[in-house]
Amino acid sequence: MPIRADLRFSVPGDKSVSHRALMFGAMAEGTTRIRGLLDAEDVGRTERAVVQLGARVARVGGEVLVTGDPWHHAGRIDCGNSGTTARLLLGALAGRAGAVLVGDASLSRRPMRRVLTPLAAMGARCEGGPTLPITVVAAPLRAGDFRAEVASAQVKSAVLLAGLAADGETSWTEPTPTRDHTERMLLGMGAPLLSVSGEGGTRLTVRRGGLSAGNLVVPGDISSAAFWFVAAAIAGVSLTIEGVGVNPTRTGVLDVLRRMGADVEIEPLGGVEPIANVTVRGRGLRGVEIAGAEVPTLIDELPILAIAAAFAEGETVVRDAAELRVKESDRVAAVVAGLRAMGVDADARPDGFVMRGGCEGGGAAIVESHGDHRIAMAFSIAGLFRRVAVSETASIATSYPDFLARLAGVGA
Ligand code: S3P
Repeated sequence: MPIRADLRFSVPGDKSVSHRALMFGAMAEGTTRIRGLLDAEDVGRTERAVVQLGARVARVGGEVLVTGDPWHHAGRIDCGNSGTTARLLLGALAGRAGAVLVGDASLSRRPMRRVLTPLAAMGARCEGGPTLPITVVAAPLRAGDFRAEVASAQVKSAVLLAGLAADGETSWTEPTPTRDHTERMLLGMGAPLLSVSGEGGTRLTVRRGGLSAGNLVVPGDISSAAFWFVAAAIAGVSLTIEGVGVNPTRTGVLDVLRRMGADVEIEPLGGVEPIANVTVRGRGLRGVEIAGAEVPTLIDELPILAIAAAFAEGETVVRDAAELRVKESDRVAAVVAGLRAMGVDADARPDGFVMRGGCEGGGAAIVESHGDHRIAMAFSIAGLFRRVAVSETASIATSYPDFLARLAGVGA
C-alpha cells in the first residue's frame, strides 16, 4: 500500500472554467466575482492577457474580481503553453480588439487552422498562421453556420465568442458533445445563446450581445483529481476529493475507473458547474476499451488512465483519440515511450494506443515528459508504485503547482 488510506482533500480550481471566468468577466459589463480561481501558469497567461486588453483584476479576501471595460489593442500577448488562452482569445478578439498572439515552442506547433477557418468565414482578419504567432486585427464580423470537424471545446468556444460580436445568428453544431463550460457560463451571464440537442448532435446558436457580470464559482479540477483517483485505484485504498467538478462532459475518467473495477461514489453538492465529493475505492483493476463519444469526456485524463492500465490485468485499447497527438506534446508517443520504459508492452496507433497491463523490471524507468505537465504528473504517480525518474517537473506549474507537495504528502 504505497499511499495512505482514507485520504480526503481538495484539488485546485478547474483550469478550463478558470480561463473562461477571467475572459468572460473581462468582456462583461460590471465586476465579476470569482471564487476558487486556479492559481497556475496557464491561467496567469489569460489573466495578463485580459489586463493588457483593458480589464482590471483585483484579489479581495480569497476572491478574484474582474471588471470589464471595452477592449483596446493589446500589443503582444504571450499565451505561453496555454492552448485555451490562445484559441479562445482568437475568437474573442476577432470582432473586438487587435493583438499579436505568441506562444512557447510547444504552443507554436499546435494547430490553429481549426479556429482560423471558421473565423475567416465570419470576416475575421487574422494574419500569419496557421500556427502562432498570429496577428488579429479587429474587424466587423458576420454570422456563420458551422459543424465541428474535430471534437473541440476550444474551437466551439472561439466561434461562440466571435458570434457574440457578429451581425446575425451564428450556429455551431457538434455531433459529439465536448465540455460545455462556455455555454453554462455565457448563459449565466445573460448571453443570447440557444442550445438544441437532437439526433445530429447539439446545435448552439448565438446572437450579438453583451454579457453581465456574475458571481462565478470554480469547482475543483477533475483533471487534477484524476491523478489521485488513479493512485487510490492502483493502491487498493479509499480516497475522497472534496468539491470537485462533475460536469457530465468531464467525468469519463470516473466511468472508466468503474469499468476497470474501482468503486466510485459521488456525493453531489449542486452548482451551475456541478460539484461533488467523490470517493474512489481501489480493488483489482482490469483492462478496458476507451473509444467513441467517451473520448472527449476524458481526453486530458488518458495519460493517467494509461498508468492505471499499466497496473491492471489484461489489455487496454484507446481508439478515436487522434487529438492526443496535438496536445502539449504528442501524448500518444509520450505515453507509449514512458510505458515501454516501465517495461509495459505498449504500441502506438494513429488514433490511440494498445497496451497490456504489467510492469516488468526493477530498475528505475527513465521517462521523458516532453515538457508536458500531464505526462510529468502521470508518470510521477506511477513512481508511487515502482521506480520512475521523470525528465522534468517544472511543466507541472502550468496546471497544478502544488502537485509535488501533495505527492509527498500522500506517500505512506
Ligand atoms: C479545453 C478543451 C480541450 C482540452 C484542453 C482544455 C478547454 O481541448 O484538452 O485541455 O478548456 O476548452 P480541445 O478543445 O482541443 O479538445
